[in-house]
Amino acid sequence: MVSDIQWVDPQIFELIKAEERRQATGMEFIASENYQSKAVLAAQSGVFANKYSEGTPGRRYYGGQENTDLMEQLAIDRATALFGSDHANVQALSGAAANVCIYAWLLEPGDTILGMDLTHGGHLTHGHPVTFMGKIFNFMRYGMKDISTGEIDFAQIRQMAHEHKPKIILAWFSAYPRELDYAKFAEIANEVGAVAMADMSHIWGLIAAGVLANPFDAWFQVMMTTTHKSLRGPRWSLILSKGTVSNPLKKPEDTSENIPTRIDRAVFPGVQWWPHMNTISAIAVALHEAAQPAFRTYGEQTLANAGTMAEEFLSRGYKLVTGGTDNHMIVLDLSETELDGTIVEQALDEIGISTSKSTIPDDPNPPYRPSGLRIGTPAMTTRWLQQDQIKTVVWWMDTAFQNHDNATVLEWLKKEVEQMSREFPSPSL
Ligand SMILES: Cc1ncc(COP(=O)(O)O)c(C=O)c1O
Repeated sequence: MVSDIQWVDPQIFELIKAEERRQATGMEFIASENYQSKAVLAAQSGVFANKYSEGTPGRRYYGGQENTDLMEQLAIDRATALFGSDHANVQALSGAAANVCIYAWLLEPGDTILGMDLTHGGHLTHGHPVTFMGKIFNFMRYGMKDISTGEIDFAQIRQMAHEHKPKIILAWFSAYPRELDYAKFAEIANEVGAVAMADMSHIWGLIAAGVLANPFDAWFQVMMTTTHKSLRGPRWSLILSKGTVSNPLKKPEDTSENIPTRIDRAVFPGVQWWPHMNTISAIAVALHEAAQPAFRTYGEQTLANAGTMAEEFLSRGYKLVTGGTDNHMIVLDLSETELDGTIVEQALDEIGISTSKSTIPDDPNPPYRPSGLRIGTPAMTTRWLQQDQIKTVVWWMDTAFQNHDNATVLEWLKKEVEQMSREFPSPSL
C-alpha cells in the first residue's frame, strides 16, 4: 500500500522511506514505544477506515454495520478474554482520551482523585495542573516512601484517602520500574469507598504475556491501557472493568447489565464521536497476536533484557531510580554527575539510539532539562535482541555519554549501532 503513495504524493512517500531507513538503521529504547507487526499495520490501512460507526455493536446510528459489528465484538471479546475483565470498551482514541472518559464515567466536577506525584513517575493525564482535567477535578498526589527501592508510601495513601475521601485511587504510572502491591491499593480504596483504578499503559503487554501481575486479580475494578506500548498494537487504548456489582460508586439504577452501558456512553457521546474502525480492527489483530504462546517468550525476554541493562549500568557506576527494575524499564539518575537527561538523550540520538529524558523523584531540574533518562526494552526485544546484545548496547551508551561532545567517537558508535540494527530487523519493515 505504501508503494501506491509513490505515484500520488512523492514527497510523503520520500518521508515514509526516510523513516523506514531510520527505523532500520537505528534502535528504539523509548520505554513506551514498540514495533507493530505488518498484520497490525495492514489492518490500520484497511477499508474499515471508510466507515462511520457511532454506537456499539448492534446499536449504531448509521447503516451498513454488518462487518463492523462483528469486528468490534471480536476485539471486545479478545480483550476481555486476555485480561480477565467483565467488560471492554475499545473505542477511546488514545490513553489520554481514555482516562478522560473514565473520569467522565465515574466522577462529578470537583471530585477528588488520588494519584502518583509526577516526578515520582506519575503521568500528566492523571491530573497535572497544566491539563484541562486538572481544572475540573481535584487531583491529589502521593509518592514513594523510599526512592532508593521504589517503596510506595502506603501510610501516606491511607492517611490522604481517609482525610480527602477520593472517588478514585489511581495506581500505575509512566516512569516506575517496580512491581506494585495492588492488594494494598485495593484495600485502602475499599476502606474509603473509592474505585481502585489502574493505568496500565506501560505494562499491559507484560501482563498479557503472563510475566507481571494483573491488578484484576487483586480486586481492581477499572483499568485503562494504551495498546501501542508493550502490547505492540496500534496507537489506541482499552478501558476494562470488572466487579461491577460491588462497585462502591454504584448508583441505585446500576445493574451489572447497565454499568457497561454507562462506560460506553461516557466514551460516546460523552467525550468523543467517531470510533476509528480501522484502528479497532488492528487492536483485534494485536490482541490475537498477544494471545499466542510466543508472546509469553517475548514478555520473559523483555524483562530479562531490562534486568541485564540495569545490572550493566550499575556495574558501570551509574545510579538507578529505585535501584533497579522489575519490569521493562530503567530510569538513570544522573543528578550526581556532570550530565543530565537532555545531554545524554541527544548523545544517543547522534548514534541512532532513541530514548527519553525523564524527571527523577523530586527533581531539582526543570522538566525540559531533567536529571534522568528513561530506557525501555520492549521495542528492541520485539527485534529479538538478547542479553549479550544488551550488554554491548549499554557499553555503547556509556561510551556515548562520556564522549557526548566528541564527534569522532559518536560517528564510530553510529556505525556500530547501524550494523547491529541491520542484523535484527524490525517486523514492521
Ligand atoms: C501511564 C500513561 N497514561 C496515559 C498515557 C497517554 O497515552 P496516549 O499517548 O495514548 O494518549 C501514557 C503515554 O504516554 C502513559 O504512559
